[in-house]
Amino acid sequence: MAAWMKGAGHGPLGRLSMRLAAWAAPPHRGRNLLARLSPAGFVAASALEHHPDLTYGRHGFIGERVVLYSRDGSGRIVLGNGAHVYQDSVLETGHGGEIHIGAHTSIHTRCQLMAYVGSIRIGSGVAVAANCALYPYDHGTVLGEPIARQPLVSRGDIVIDDDAWLGTGVIVLAGVRVGTGAVVAAGAVVTRDVPPNAIAAGVPARVVGWRQPPPRDRAEPVEHLEAIAAAGGRDLP
Ligand SMILES: CC(C)(COP(=O)(O)OP(=O)(O)OC[C@H]1O[C@@H](n2cnc3c(N)ncnc32)[C@H](O)[C@@H]1OP(=O)(O)O)[C@@H](O)C(=O)NCCC(=O)NCCS
Repeated sequence: MAAWMKGAGHGPLGRLSMRLAAWAAPPHRGRNLLARLSPAGFVAASALEHHPDLTYGRHGFIGERVVLYSRDGSGRIVLGNGAHVYQDSVLETGHGGEIHIGAHTSIHTRCQLMAYVGSIRIGSGVAVAANCALYPYDHGTVLGEPIARQPLVSRGDIVIDDDAWLGTGVIVLAGVRVGTGAVVAAGAVVTRDVPPNAIAAGVPARVVGWRQPPPRDRAEPVEHLEAIAAAGGRDLP
């Protein structure tokens, strides 16, 4: 495995090396370890890349059947060092929208990041749980015209700041900022900004609490981003 990953890269031969290394590796998130073995990281053979402006960070992970797509050749996708995108997630850009994913951020299975018109900017050490959807645009809804023919509009970019956690099934709409260290509870629909370190829940999401300092007798945590990096990304179960 390690020997094959020495040849890993984003050209045809580098990808062949990744494919050969994957044969001997465990499936799904078990292949994270391959990403750690090479600065080129790991991209599953079944991932679909149709994007003219795609930048990989070092030691990144792209899982099975992930789609990285640009509809009209516009926008950028920039993946930070140690960023992980798990299987069946779809990252699309179009109409000038961009996607930026920070270092050691994980996008878990079946997430949809659809950066049309507006952009999606996710910071470092962020955890986006399975089945989340981030949509920084809407269809025009003027009465009397078919919605499908109306132009896409955006109320602004989506920004998810460092260390935030989106629980499973969260939907984030246009123009929203989720602050540093904020927690968004499972199933929430975020229509307004969430302040740093808040815990927000519900539809529409409202602040239901705040993160609390650790109890005094708790052991010192390992330096946060270092710990995430050592684990090969924020790899939540
Ligand atoms: C948000 C969460 C972390 C709990 O945070 P917490 O601070 O311990 O919150 P509590 O359980 O004390 O709940 C606070 C209030 O929010 C409500 N609440 C918690 N989670 C909620 C949710 N997903 N949707 C709606 N309301 C929710 C509680 O009912 C409670 O309301 P009440 O005060 O009226 O009784 C947890 O509920 C959650 O959603 N976890 C996400 C799990 C997940 O997606 N895991 C994927 C792994 S990456």
